[in-house]
Amino acid sequence: MNYAYQVKRMREEYGKLDKVEMSIWECCELLNDVIDDSDPDLDEPQIEHLLQTAEAIHKDYPDEDWLHLTALIHDLGKVLLHPSFGGLPQWAVVGDTFPLGCAFDETNVHHKYFKENPDYNNPNYNTKYGIYSEDCGLDNTLISWGHDDYMYLVAKENGTTLPQHCTRREPTPT
Ligand SMILES: [Fe+2]
Ligand SMILES: [Fe+2]
Repeated sequence: MNYAYQVKRMREEYGKLDKVEMSIWECCELLNDVIDDSDPDLDEPQIEHLLQTAEAIHKDYPDEDWLHLTALIHDLGKVLLHPSFGGLPQWAVVGDTFPLGCAFDETNVHHKYFKENPDYNNPNYNTKYGIYSEDCGLDNTLISWGHDDYMYLVAKENGTTLPQHCTRREPTPT
């Protein structure tokens, strides 16, 4: 399956973590230099979005310090748009995250552009369940590559101490 290969290739390539080494705060500042075309608040610097999210979660969950940190770093994967991280195109980094191998949901941001994706017209992949069965579970679903997946890899490969329930579990063999 071509799309599975592409996602695997991106995970392998970016899982090497051989692009740049920097602190979390340096990364927050670098993120200010990139623009996310799918973001409805384009006027707001990315760093403000990170801080506002962390502050809002801190207010609602004052004792969950791991959650404050997660909020602060949740969009740092958008640095993939930056030339020093390979300067990937917008469609490969931002926008919604969605399952592959089944129809693209119309609620995905910029849905009209999915018509240019070869899977859109592939009868194996463009039905409601596509290659999956009902209730197959998220662990058995292949999710698109993007900034979330990259940040997950960065955290995991750096030995994150964030609790397990906020990191993705590896698929369990069935
Ligand atoms: Fe995001
Ligand atoms: Fe965000």
